[in-house]
Amino acid sequence: RDEDGIYYALDLGATTCQVLRIQLGGRGSKIINHKVELHQIPQELASSTSEELFDFISLTLKEFVEREENGIDQAPDERKELGFTFSFPIRQLSISSGVLIKWTKGFAIEDVVGKDVSRCLEEAMSRNGLNMRVGALVNDTVGTLALGHYYDKDTVAAVIIGTGTNACYVERSDALIKSQGLLTNSGGMVVNMEWGNFWSAHLPKTSYDIALDEESPNRNEQGFEKMISGMYLGEIVRRVLHRIAEESDIFGESAYHLSVPFILRTPLMAAMHEDDSPNLREVGRILEEQFQMPGISLKARMLVVRVCDIVTRRAARLTAAGIIGILKKIGRDGISGVASGRAKGKPKRSVVAIERGLYTNYSIFREYMNEAITDILGEEIAQNVVLRVAEDGSGIGAALLIATYSSKR
Ligand code: GLC
Repeated sequence: RDEDGIYYALDLGATTCQVLRIQLGGRGSKIINHKVELHQIPQELASSTSEELFDFISLTLKEFVEREENGIDQAPDERKELGFTFSFPIRQLSISSGVLIKWTKGFAIEDVVGKDVSRCLEEAMSRNGLNMRVGALVNDTVGTLALGHYYDKDTVAAVIIGTGTNACYVERSDALIKSQGLLTNSGGMVVNMEWGNFWSAHLPKTSYDIALDEESPNRNEQGFEKMISGMYLGEIVRRVLHRIAEESDIFGESAYHLSVPFILRTPLMAAMHEDDSPNLREVGRILEEQFQMPGISLKARMLVVRVCDIVTRRAARLTAAGIIGILKKIGRDGISGVASGRAKGKPKRSVVAIERGLYTNYSIFREYMNEAITDILGEEIAQNVVLRVAEDGSGIGAALLIATYSSKR
């Protein structure tokens, strides 16, 4: 069902929610234009009730739709289809429905766990007088993959590195034990890996990781995410600096702010890490203005930058290792194909769509990640691996997917 027209999408991430309007042409195959609006999610909503959360996002969407359609004649009973990007682990029941398995990224609204989140949203939309139904329910990685694929047919996987981290990739249907009997036209199926929950005894866990996990609302879960993503990097750095402050006098008397959990947000950490002003003036300014730590010596400022560097480098290298794990699984790492006798000859080009702040706004993170991909694969093979930003892919991709797959109820 490839249809031209206007599609809306709602993208619930963690700290933000995006509402989008996309116009498709060329029998639903071309994005003619799109508009994206970003809204902060009030922090208290993350631990409120199902009704409060879904009322908030449906009202945000309603106001957006009303602004967009102001003056445009609409058939009053025309029910629009919505792409709903819901970036938490769900058990997918159909293209447009799925049950929340558990919350991640600091959310804890117990009465949603076990419920179909599309229903919750549809009920809230109808409570608030918005005539829409969910046409596609997707994870942010899947939306990003869809937009990545729209740009470049060699896209095989998508990775999100923002507040949380996750990846999805295209797997051969017959390699999937869980979906036996489910046939697809293409022979492939997108797997949302939820890699944030990956864990292995080989991962280099420190006492800071252990303490962070123990004090988190989701203990023993999302171990990979807690080493990599934006919600946690600043907090790991804060824990290290706090310990240094306790065990030395390098930060002087005024380091008590460092004892406040989550006070060092990752964007500020990145700003200190990327400080190229003479004598790390910017680091000094941030420490003074944000943490009331005036007059920190150059030596101590250099130490702060060094800690940021170690924490970020580890995160970037782990992300790169995750990507190469996927390429290896699908025989695109240039090594496994040859070893198994498959795909000999010229390695194929593999594009990985990538999204969110840690990659797009943090250049040192990006550099370390690219460096690690080359370190692991070798320069020759790494040349065939293209990381490509799919901006706003999580939401736009969801709208592309409704245009292609949903069916009217
Ligand atoms: C968390 C969620 C996952 C999402 C990722 C990135 O790991 O569980 O569904 O894709 O964050 O937003």
